[in-house]
Amino acid sequence: MTGTLTIAGLGPGSEALVTPEVSAALATATDILGYKPYVSRVPPRPGLKLHPSDNREELQRASEALRLAAEGGQVVVVSSGDPGVFAMASAVFEALEQAPQYQELPIRVLPGITAMLAAAARAGAPLGHDFCAINLSDNLKPWAVIEKRLRLAAEGDFAIAMYNPRSASRPEGFGRALAVLKESGCGERLVIFAHAISAADEKIETVSLNEARPEMADMRTLVIVGNSQTRRVGRWVYAPRRVE
Ligand SMILES: C[S@@+](CC[C@H](N)C(=O)[O-])C[C@H]1O[C@@H](n2cnc3c(N)ncnc32)[C@H](O)[C@@H]1O
Repeated sequence: MTGTLTIAGLGPGSEALVTPEVSAALATATDILGYKPYVSRVPPRPGLKLHPSDNREELQRASEALRLAAEGGQVVVVSSGDPGVFAMASAVFEALEQAPQYQELPIRVLPGITAMLAAAARAGAPLGHDFCAINLSDNLKPWAVIEKRLRLAAEGDFAIAMYNPRSASRPEGFGRALAVLKESGCGERLVIFAHAISAADEKIETVSLNEARPEMADMRTLVIVGNSQTRRVGRWVYAPRRVE
């Protein structure tokens, strides 16, 4: 086996936020696999085969990547942001568990700037104290688990970064998530809606949870709910380092 498999994070969108390590892996790749919009961020060149696929095909894509690497390819699987955050790295290891014949392949996971960190940097420092990240998609977990985690995060006074808040196929969940947080006493907390961070149509909006409406989020939005101490200073939002 002379092939390699690299799982790389392309960052939130801007080329300036792609790490040099990821750029180097893309420059020497023979095959690039990933969800269509992410693969389209890689410019075509001679000797490079692009394998775009649909977003529900992660496990199949991961198995294909292992197979191509076993055949000798320099294979790169791309995710947006960081590949280990609600993305392809877990799918590749899941596929590897099902195909132990590939376990000796050289595999590397290259980190990228995840949406939560890019969004936080634009807003100020809302993740400056303890925080957690919750994926609001119930495609791969029951909604009851999401609700329980939201309640416990609120009780623990964590800042909460919410990925995948709202999609056309899941229009209701985000409204329910806001309702759960209100019921948990978080109505006065600040909520940051960070849309398309680092892309041309980037937009950031901060309101109180009581003022937040489900339509303020879509699938290109990362939502950060502050903790009880999170506050504004000028146009910035930050979580103080001390909690009384
Ligand atoms: C399937 S998750 C993938 C997360 C990705 N692996 C990461 O580390 O950022 C997709 C979600 O990430 C968030 N996201 C990704 N890129 C974003 C961006 N540029 N601006 C705001 N949110 C973004 C949105 O919540 C979106 O629904």
